[in-house]
Amino acid sequence: MANPLFPYAEQWGINHGIPAEPLSDEEILTRLREVGALEDQRWETGKCSGTMYSGDREHYAVLNEAFSYFSHVNTLQRDICPSMSHFEYEIIRATADLLHGEAVTELDPNQKVCGVIGAGGTESILNAVLGYRDWARSKGIAEPQMILADTAHPAFLKGAHLFCLELVIVATDPVTTLVDPADVRAAITDRTAVIVGSAGNYAYGTIDPITELSEIAVEHGVGLHVDGCLGGWILPWGQRLGYDIPVFDFRLPGVTSISADTHKYGYGPKGLSVLLWRDPSYRRHHYYVEPEWNGGLYASAALLGSRSGGAVAGTWAALRRLGEPGYLRKAQAVFEAAFAMQDAIRSHPELTILGNPTFCFAFRSDEFDIYHVNDHMKTNGWRFNGLQKPHALHFCITGPQTQPGVVEAFAADLAEAVEYAKQHANEAPHSGSMYGGAGANMTNEDRRQAIALISGFMDMVTDGPP
Ligand SMILES: Cc1ncc(COP(=O)(O)O)c(C=O)c1O
Repeated sequence: MANPLFPYAEQWGINHGIPAEPLSDEEILTRLREVGALEDQRWETGKCSGTMYSGDREHYAVLNEAFSYFSHVNTLQRDICPSMSHFEYEIIRATADLLHGEAVTELDPNQKVCGVIGAGGTESILNAVLGYRDWARSKGIAEPQMILADTAHPAFLKGAHLFCLELVIVATDPVTTLVDPADVRAAITDRTAVIVGSAGNYAYGTIDPITELSEIAVEHGVGLHVDGCLGGWILPWGQRLGYDIPVFDFRLPGVTSISADTHKYGYGPKGLSVLLWRDPSYRRHHYYVEPEWNGGLYASAALLGSRSGGAVAGTWAALRRLGEPGYLRKAQAVFEAAFAMQDAIRSHPELTILGNPTFCFAFRSDEFDIYHVNDHMKTNGWRFNGLQKPHALHFCITGPQTQPGVVEAFAADLAEAVEYAKQHANEAPHSGSMYGGAGANMTNEDRRQAIALISGFMDMVTDGPP
């Protein structure tokens, strides 16, 4: 039987070393074209959550050509590619403009929002965590703490693990999915370096009470990072369109940094994110400069060393191609589809939407395990992300869902799935959450086993078929 992790191995064979016989360019490109088209079928229907964001073939064609002119370029070597400084500057300034960087200078003429490019949301977050650690150390805090809601993305936990910050995790309200600012205030100590809030969080798409967190940050002189990796490039367009979206950006005086991924709703190619700082004095703390290396003077502004110029050129092309009208148009279509789907969910009294989401939402049920709904939706080609604590299904609305007929298909298939779930309520569902599915009370042993299982899976996809 074909190995589902390596489904092409039988057809093409698999190389365990350097290929003895080169393939012709035509064979290579034909193979890549065919397999790419085959895999694209899985999301082009509009039934797959998140991931593809634009889904627009014409747009991809321009991005791909832009990428191709700089795929071989190393962004570290600015002497031979000054274009990278030009493109990165424009990407950073556009992101700062979107997130109201001007408000910082209006409030304090000595401050100016600045940024740094990373290879994705995780790198932007790691850069921020490292920056806050050393910013806190520069103020005499030897062992800094980071306060975050339990909905914060795991990249923050990874950052704390890598850079040795102490985590202070605040539980969110199960109904609103948000932190209570009073709990955050109570968690502040003289070792607090930074508070983290999300706009919005991955699981529920909801936005933490950033206004209140900003007040706490100002009051205590600590940093406030807003994780806008997912929402940073779409929520501001929603605000301009008049949707009820609270302010979460640099208009709030306590916000000291925001991460916003262009490879999500910036509709750029995968591999680029922006981390904005309220002022360059924060950013200096994640610079790395080694003036004495025998390989010459070494400097990097962020964690990674070499990066491909392709993603930079592709992102710049996306920005220039869409401009304000293009982003507004795309955002409106996404919000309209997302709210229409939420209406379909609300028409079933058995289902509950978590919190007050916009473009990305999650739903659960008190009447049956929501994974029964997933089981049935899967048979109709839908791919949601499974959540845990509590079991819920997450759907992040992107370009492919805005195609004609997708919202209607969602509503019709959901109605069938709810009936199926009611009929099978006494059985165990087939599907589970990606990240474990052990429910609310994971013991240390459950956790150890889940980690071992998932580590084994990562080995398998990296090490090839047995
Ligand atoms: C809220 C949030 N933060 C951070 C990230 C991490 O981004 P990346 O996967 O690009 O590293 C994600 C990814 O989905 C996210 O949704």
